[in-house]
Amino acid sequence: MSLSPWLVEKEGELHADGIPLREIAARFRTPCYVYSAARIRENVERFRKTFAGLPMELHYAVKANPLGAILCLLARDGLGAEVVSGGELLRALRAGFPSQKIIFTGVGKTKAELELALREGIRAVAVESMEELKALEEISREIGCCARVALRLNPALSPDTHPHLATGRPGSKFGLDPRDAEEALAWIARSSDLCLVGLHLHIGSQILDVEPYLAAWRYLCEILRKARDHGLSPSFLDLGGGFGISYGGEGPGFPLEELAAGLREEMPSGVTLMLEPGRALVGDAGLLLVRVLYTKRVHEKAYVVVDAGMSDLLRPALYGAHHRIVPVRKRTGPPVKADVVGPICENADVLATDRELSPLQSGDLLAILDTGAYGSSMSSHYNSRPRGAEVLVYRGKAHLVRRRETVEDLVRGEIVPEDLG
Ligand code: LLP
Repeated sequence: MSLSPWLVEKEGELHADGIPLREIAARFRTPCYVYSAARIRENVERFRKTFAGLPMELHYAVKANPLGAILCLLARDGLGAEVVSGGELLRALRAGFPSQKIIFTGVGKTKAELELALREGIRAVAVESMEELKALEEISREIGCCARVALRLNPALSPDTHPHLATGRPGSKFGLDPRDAEEALAWIARSSDLCLVGLHLHIGSQILDVEPYLAAWRYLCEILRKARDHGLSPSFLDLGGGFGISYGGEGPGFPLEELAAGLREEMPSGVTLMLEPGRALVGDAGLLLVRVLYTKRVHEKAYVVVDAGMSDLLRPALYGAHHRIVPVRKRTGPPVKADVVGPICENADVLATDRELSPLQSGDLLAILDTGAYGSSMSSHYNSRPRGAEVLVYRGKAHLVRRRETVEDLVRGEIVPEDLG
């Protein structure tokens, strides 16, 4: 089994970009997310190399991991950002993404968020309904600016992925219905307060086949022709994100090269290709470092209870997602088959089911791999558990990039009325 290139076993123990994970656990305690800046940069480079020669811009999907240090790293590397809330927009600006490189998507932007986007002068607001388009037009009239709009389309494609993650299929709330897309084009063509700068879609997440992307691309090209018929000239076609990674450690993940080759054949003139990867940039660049609290058997089933649960890493509970779990130092002896579970009061608080593991004892460290995307960003305070520390390994040093929370962080913002009881 090959681990990620930044994770190497040396002298019997696992190192992250040269630093023993044991040392990181001793310094920052567990649970703790650990990221590799070098691996994130390699992932960015892979996109750039693969699409070299094509007019392509990369926009990082902030929701995958909105940690300030990661955003800063990517902003400095020249990427743009795709955001889905005012909060993500402000985080992106704070991290140094130029407003001109930010795209705002999402079905439920509030008027306050639309106004923020217009005032900040971002690259495009990707609208997802006729009502949103009209709300945006009204706000741009009030402010006295012309809103740069992208239309987010729903291409009615059902790629092979978890049903929760297929966002461009019929029956999904995302994007414009084809009839609304036509109406939106006509509306924008008549409006002096709206300017169509792009066409957008996102077919889903953790996709491993190229074909649905090529079908989505053809759909974008079809709507581009219709836009041009209306005298509009969008400057970008945004294929969204969703490029899958290899969670099992086998296989190469999404065949980017094949996608680039397909797009080279069908690239219309006068437009830029935009991609919005989240997982493919940060997913395999992060791990969750946890400690075994107890091992036990209940009615013959073996359990390894660790100090992180679904509040730290929700993906296994929510999607039945598989994450490899490896010991930081392997013990010898026959393997055991066990569920790896957390301390949360829910049956669903399972990090791995019937997993074959080398023998474990209380106090042992485990690394839960490929948790750089949608790990920390989907964490919660459920069961009143403060979030753990987050650490970025950068140029041979482990940097604390988010401190461990305290109980004070949990109750901040709460108000107990004085005359209660
Ligand atoms: N662009 C848009 C408009 C999106 O909605 C998303 C993800 C992306 C880009 C980035 O997708 P990526 O390249 O990271 O797959 N919580 C789920 C993933 C939900 C993704 C939602 N949208 C998970 O843990 O797998």
